[in-house]
Amino acid sequence: MRRFAPMILAAFALLAGACEKKTQPAPSGQGAPGGQAAQQAAGGGTPAAGDTIVLGEVGSLTGAQATFGVSTRNGVDLAIKEANEAGGVKGKKLKVIVYDDQGKPEEAAQAVTRLITQDKVVLILGEVASSNSLAMAEKAQAAGVPMITPSSTNPSVTQKGEYIFRVCFIDPFQGFVMAKFARENLKADRVAILQDNKSAYSIGLTDVFTAKFKEMGGAIVTTQSYSQGDTNFRAQLTAIKKVKPQAIYVPGYYNDVGIVARQAREMGVTVPLMGGDGWDSEKLFELAGNSLDGSYFSNHYSPSNPEPKVQKFISDYKAAYGGVPDALAALGYDAAKVAIAALERAKDLSGPAVRDAIAQTKDFPGVAGTITLDQDRNAVKSAAILQIENGTTKFVTTINP
Ligand code: PHE
Repeated sequence: MRRFAPMILAAFALLAGACEKKTQPAPSGQGAPGGQAAQQAAGGGTPAAGDTIVLGEVGSLTGAQATFGVSTRNGVDLAIKEANEAGGVKGKKLKVIVYDDQGKPEEAAQAVTRLITQDKVVLILGEVASSNSLAMAEKAQAAGVPMITPSSTNPSVTQKGEYIFRVCFIDPFQGFVMAKFARENLKADRVAILQDNKSAYSIGLTDVFTAKFKEMGGAIVTTQSYSQGDTNFRAQLTAIKKVKPQAIYVPGYYNDVGIVARQAREMGVTVPLMGGDGWDSEKLFELAGNSLDGSYFSNHYSPSNPEPKVQKFISDYKAAYGGVPDALAALGYDAAKVAIAALERAKDLSGPAVRDAIAQTKDFPGVAGTITLDQDRNAVKSAAILQIENGTTKFVTTINP
């Protein structure tokens, strides 16, 4: 049985530069988008009318993966503020309307419909989780409104059509990176996998990792599954323990992985865990305690990168929002920067013109790597491997495509 949660979308109008945030819960209800909150938050304006250009953003500001949405929103906000302080785009100020999808694909799709039909945004930023971006991309593509996902890595997201872009690498690369690291650096021959069977991201990474690790001469000794939000992983861990792997690949999101790690250690499973970008959250360590010490994950950026533009981003971010920006914040910032540069270049603010301008993105200096969009509208970038030690991450190596 499928339950539909009542749609409760919170609208946040980020009036950049003034750092003003309005929270306006929409009237709850099911079905077609049509609440008033977005309209009010947007000031009822059309995208290019008057002196404001309106962009949309969808993210998990609440729910199980809330740090994904909040970090991304902060990164976007910082980029928009900087652009407005520098005079805006085409002489107009930028404004972003942000909707909370609570981490749910149905809510993400509804939010996009609302951004398009009601708020009439020129472009949409989001989501983080690939399953949510897939639901959004469907709508954005059908309406001809460009969408840039900062951080969704499943290949099928941008395959939805020519209006859908991303500024991060894709999972065929990310899965390869960890398989190579497991073989060459950890010298593992036998690896077990624990995948989230509710997540396009986790399923995709499992498939790639399995294929690559085998190609490199390794064996996958068991593949176990859970569903997002589960809290007891002991049956799967028992099955894994029995086949004595040298490492366990857990390509899930931090909220689940933190609990997996703790239960694994309680059960005497001591081998390193390995994961992907979905581990990236300070909350991971709150959940896992020290259970992940000696484990590894692949990610988009490392805050210890000494490059001046990265260090400037980190200090500006800390000053504005507190805390060291994670990869989501960095990619949110980069996605917004790419969007802003494209809006500036576009011959007008129509969907096709903005789309064409985004597609031309080349050698763009992002804080999470240089961005050139390929024919499939993906960025080709290197990945960082991070090691966990004492509840924090340490940069190990970069792997290039
Ligand atoms: N790549 C993940 C996905 O596609 C999302 C993610 C990106 C999570 C970066 C954390 C950091 O679902």
